[in-house]
Amino acid sequence: MDRNQLLHDLSEFLRIPSISTLPAHNQDCRAAAEWVAAALRRIGCRGVEFLGSETHPVVWGKGPDVPGAPTLLIYGHYDVQPPDPLAEWTTPPFEPTQRDDRIYARGAADDKGQVFCLLQAIAASPRPAVNFRFLIEGEEEYGSKVLFDLLKREPQRVRADAVLVADMSYVAPGWPAVYTTLRGLCYAEITVRTSKTDLHSGEYGGAAPNAHEELGRLLGRLKGADGKVNIPGFYGPVQRPSKAELAAWKKLPFNEKDFLNKRVQGKGLVGLKKASVLERLWALPTFEIHGILGGFTGDGAKTVIPAEATAKVSMRLVPNQKLAPVERQLAAAVKRFAPKYVTASVRFLHGADPAQIKIDTPAFKLLDQAFKEVTGRGTVPVRAGGSIPVVPALASAGAPVILTGIGLPDDRLHAPNEKLELKQLWDGIDVFRRFYELLGGAGAGAGAGGGGRGNGR
Ligand code: BES
Ligand code: MN
Ligand code: MN
Repeated sequence: MDRNQLLHDLSEFLRIPSISTLPAHNQDCRAAAEWVAAALRRIGCRGVEFLGSETHPVVWGKGPDVPGAPTLLIYGHYDVQPPDPLAEWTTPPFEPTQRDDRIYARGAADDKGQVFCLLQAIAASPRPAVNFRFLIEGEEEYGSKVLFDLLKREPQRVRADAVLVADMSYVAPGWPAVYTTLRGLCYAEITVRTSKTDLHSGEYGGAAPNAHEELGRLLGRLKGADGKVNIPGFYGPVQRPSKAELAAWKKLPFNEKDFLNKRVQGKGLVGLKKASVLERLWALPTFEIHGILGGFTGDGAKTVIPAEATAKVSMRLVPNQKLAPVERQLAAAVKRFAPKYVTASVRFLHGADPAQIKIDTPAFKLLDQAFKEVTGRGTVPVRAGGSIPVVPALASAGAPVILTGIGLPDDRLHAPNEKLELKQLWDGIDVFRRFYELLGGAGAGAGAGGGGRGNGR
């Protein structure tokens, strides 16, 4: 198909500000779901359904039945993260723009561009002998509650020979990857209250407690300057990667200096000294502060002692850690570290267990071959620092979940000037087209994850 036409179609998708975390964009999320539904119909899906929510529906689709062929479930998300800070975008986040063989827009790489690629790869080939099933959700960036609830009610939706998720990147340009773990997430608000109302900082300062100061100290106790998280029990289940895995990481095209200078673009890295940077990013849990609310932040000056302050925080979890115990550990630590004169509370917003994927099943070999043929290099196994909440549920029927992607590490996901390189897009369409072809050629049971052949429904 004409590449200009493809870019036109993708741009239409990218133009929809489907920000799932902001209720003001509910209609936009719905519009993005409609876009996905229409795209699924165009590639021959019957019975496209909106499931679980009016505003953030899971889009379910079912390709034409091919008796005896393997079933491939494709997962992706049409929602995006908020685009702020807006002033830092060279061109507006929802006006997709081509510059230097890239397309710039919120969602270009995460995940609309990749969903587009997976679907276009079907349209681009003589119909592959694959039973396609689709679960394209609209709440991934906000914890995937709608899809979780759906899969609890209807677990048969994930019956397949293999599941394909393209929501990640190559490990470096020219180095396609498959992911063996995803970190989990525990997102919370910690609120500290120190008095009934705000107080004059002259009349009361020196004797009345200050909510921001208490919150600052509390956060400082939860994680030290050495990068260690001091929540009791937090590291208990964490396992160091094996020697073999650490040795394999040393051979990856990853350089700590480049990571600092070109990607972080800061003056120094932080974290546990005993661990390599990749281990910190991939195999250790974290504690991050996302924002702090409360007190006076307007123009000018106001002399006030804030009565309340809230921090939005999250912890990334690694295999073996579980969301529920971590929630309990955080709540207990906050209680324990807050002084008696402070009322501290924790509210949990969303979360996800970590995921661990075995990559020794046949479907992975086929993807490896497809990448090799198209890009000249097969996939390297790596881990992901990020999270996709629903992956453990997608794996629950036993089908192997292939975590891969066509982005690059510098795509600036969730940040200003998110982009997707056009070469990655065109190669990606070719890679997935070839993968579908190989999978179809391998016949039923090609995924062979032990889940058996599922016909969805
Ligand atoms: N595509 C990302 C996940 C990702 C990013 C995996 C980079 C590996 C490398 C996904 O859209 C994402 O951002 N997930 C959120 C989930 C959260 C909001 C529940 C995340 O990781 O912050
Ligand atoms: Mn994503
Ligand atoms: Mn994301």
